[in-house]
Amino acid sequence: MSVNKYAKITGVGSFVPKDIYTNFDLEKMLDTTDDWIQQRTGIVKRHWADEHTSTSDLAYEASCQAIKNAGLNREQIDMIIMATLTPDHDFPGAGCFLQAKLGLTGIAVLDIRQQCTGFIYGLSIADKFIKTGECKNILLVGSEVHSKGLDKTPRGRNVSVLFGDGAGAVVVSATDVQNPQTEAHIIGSHLHADGAFAKELWTPAPGSAFKGERINHELLNKGAHFPQMNGKQVFVHAIKKMCETLLTLTKEKNISLNEIDCFLFHQANLRINQKVAETLGIPAEKVFNTIQNYGNTTAATIPLGMHDALKAEKLKPGMLVGAAAFGSGFTWASALWRH
Ligand code: ACO
Repeated sequence: MSVNKYAKITGVGSFVPKDIYTNFDLEKMLDTTDDWIQQRTGIVKRHWADEHTSTSDLAYEASCQAIKNAGLNREQIDMIIMATLTPDHDFPGAGCFLQAKLGLTGIAVLDIRQQCTGFIYGLSIADKFIKTGECKNILLVGSEVHSKGLDKTPRGRNVSVLFGDGAGAVVVSATDVQNPQTEAHIIGSHLHADGAFAKELWTPAPGSAFKGERINHELLNKGAHFPQMNGKQVFVHAIKKMCETLLTLTKEKNISLNEIDCFLFHQANLRINQKVAETLGIPAEKVFNTIQNYGNTTAATIPLGMHDALKAEKLKPGMLVGAAAFGSGFTWASALWRH
């Protein structure tokens, strides 16, 4: 087994369910308004899956595109990393269901639970598995069906307006790099977490921390199976930590923020991303935002945005990309790569 010096993103794919719910549609169920949602979050609409669709179904569509765009056959994939907080079932992880749909029996599947930061954690893991020489082509997927886990009554309005369904996937492959200034490769990543804030953004049930059964009628009646969030805490920490991690990573890699051509940030709130850009002196046009169209699609957000940025030609081969995310855990992370 020879060691690979570099890994790079060779293919990108994405998929969203066809049904669109505008803020006006949500007004009918959630005691909210289009004005409130747009002003506070920037979200205009989101895609929600139909009743027959699961997280691994969306992941499958995005994966097929990513593998095709990488110019590979499925059989050349030697590992799947799946990031989601909305798995098809409690266990096994959605990655195994995706693997079965792809027919890739026998290869390693790793499910990771890092919520909005899941894609960057996955990219970092993929980079390392490639560099050890253990893998040549890794399929990394972020996929979410939030819509089946939201409280769609006025009680849940502070959270339910935020989330959308979707999937994004990339193939990360071993590569030779002669000139790191121009050729595609993953430059580095920083991963962080602080579990002291775990209950500031979480879904309590089902869970082994409860007395008796993991789920019961009392928990269901309380809505403990729906996401709960201290929005202000999340907002403040997200800005601080996304700035910190991007600054530390760029400094470590001796890259100035000015050199970065395209920023792919997690999309939880347009105001968070505007504040991060303002704090770091990043021109607004370098930040590719998609929250208007999709809401927060958690682990799917960055690869979904990456695919849209490629289609819009805001991200082009050879560009230097900076990604940063913050989410439940709290977890936060950043990554740099040349695309
Ligand atoms: N529609 C209308 N009114 C609402 C809604 C709604 N959907 N939700 C809350 N309100 C009301 C509140 O009841 C409150 O009313 P009051 O003043 O009469 O008490 C008022 O709006 C203000 O509520 P706040 O919660 O203080 O609003 P805030 O300005 O903090 O904005 C928001 C809320 C948009 C959620 C913001 O805090 C935020 O974006 N936080 C970060 C969210 C985030 O990043 N989440 C990450 C999740 S990703 C993951 O890892 C799973």
